Amino acid sequence: MKVDSNISAVVTGGASGLGKASAQALAAAGAKVAIFDINEEQGEAVAKEIGGIFCNVNIMSEESVVAGFEKARAAHGQERIMVHCAMTARRGKTLAFDKASGGFKRTSTEDYEFGVQGILVASYRMASLSALGMASLEPMEDGERGLLVLTASVAAQDAQIGQVIYGSAKAGVNGLVLPLARDLMDLGIRCNSIMPGIFATPLMLGAPQNVLDSLAASVPFPKRLGKPEEFGSLVLRATPISTARPSVWTGPSAWPRVDHTPLRGRQLSADASSATTLRGRPRLRGVGAGSSSRSGIGSAVTPRAGGSTATSMPEPVSTASTPSATPSGTGA
Ligand SMILES: NC(=O)c1ccc[n+]([C@@H]2O[C@H](COP(=O)([O-])OP(=O)(O)OC[C@H]3O[C@@H](n4cnc5c(N)ncnc54)[C@H](O)[C@@H]3O)[C@@H](O)[C@H]2O)c1
Repeated sequence: MKVDSNISAVVTGGASGLGKASAQALAAAGAKVAIFDINEEQGEAVAKEIGGIFCNVNIMSEESVVAGFEKARAAHGQERIMVHCAMTARRGKTLAFDKASGGFKRTSTEDYEFGVQGILVASYRMASLSALGMASLEPMEDGERGLLVLTASVAAQDAQIGQVIYGSAKAGVNGLVLPLARDLMDLGIRCNSIMPGIFATPLMLGAPQNVLDSLAASVPFPKRLGKPEEFGSLVLRATPISTARPSVWTGPSAWPRVDHTPLRGRQLSADASSATTLRGRPRLRGVGAGSSSRSGIGSAVTPRAGGSTATSMPEPVSTASTPSATPSGTGA
């Protein structure tokens, strides 16, 4: 798909961080962008800056999302691109020792369910409702009607201690991509997921400086957190058709890597060069790689999250909907 002024896009979480960078990148390429977010002040400011519109949308609510699409489509026409970056979750270790009681505190099923709603269910909601609108669009070149981009996380493959909710729900997002894409392929709607490493967004910058320093130091090259605009540029790279199959893209924190290897079944892959630059022994996973001990080109390799140790990676958790009583235990 060629992005220009004939293309409209919806970006969730567009008021901040990776969503904001995606909205800026799409607008700079000429697209008409609608930002879906619950942060009205920041969302309006970004919309003004990029010449788009802001829609006060809570991704947890079907009604709110439907109303957001109505507003965006009335202003810009049916979107051909939907980039979903917003998420909300709670954090917690499965069992955390509680000094006061001398026993263990369990992350509740309710907290777990909230995270699954805020990450996985919301991803399905956004993708399927956007696809419903795209389905009646005129097809473009190659029969393409639209593009859905979901945001997982490197934690989808390599979640750390305390990321039981976040990691498993993000893995669900990656799991959503293939059946969604197969369901929608006859309609010419593509679906991809990006697994960012650690990026310098407000979500992460709340972590203590020493943690951020150690995360930056663990990045192979360059030794820093990813810049949001690097994520935005990766979103733009999803717009031309580059593969007939859906992909899950992954990479180290500061340098998102694009994997055009088609997904087969449950395969999640990164290219070999990124894997060899990551700390820790690359682990092979996925179709054709499960029993292999080689990490050559084409192997399915799971990188460690920014090379961080098991407890040093802060868990991105939306503060917008995180109750203060949320149990912690991520090491963040
Ligand atoms: N920053 C990282 O290092 C990193 C790493 C891996 C994955 N991710 C993923 O990237 C995505 C974006 O993260 P970010 O770092 O840009 O975060 P961010 O906090 O900078 O931005 C998140 C945006 O989502 C909005 N939002 C939160 N709850 C919402 C809701 N219920 N409805 C609508 N909008 C809501 C917030 O207002 C905010 O504008 C998330 O899905 C996150 O899990 C981020």
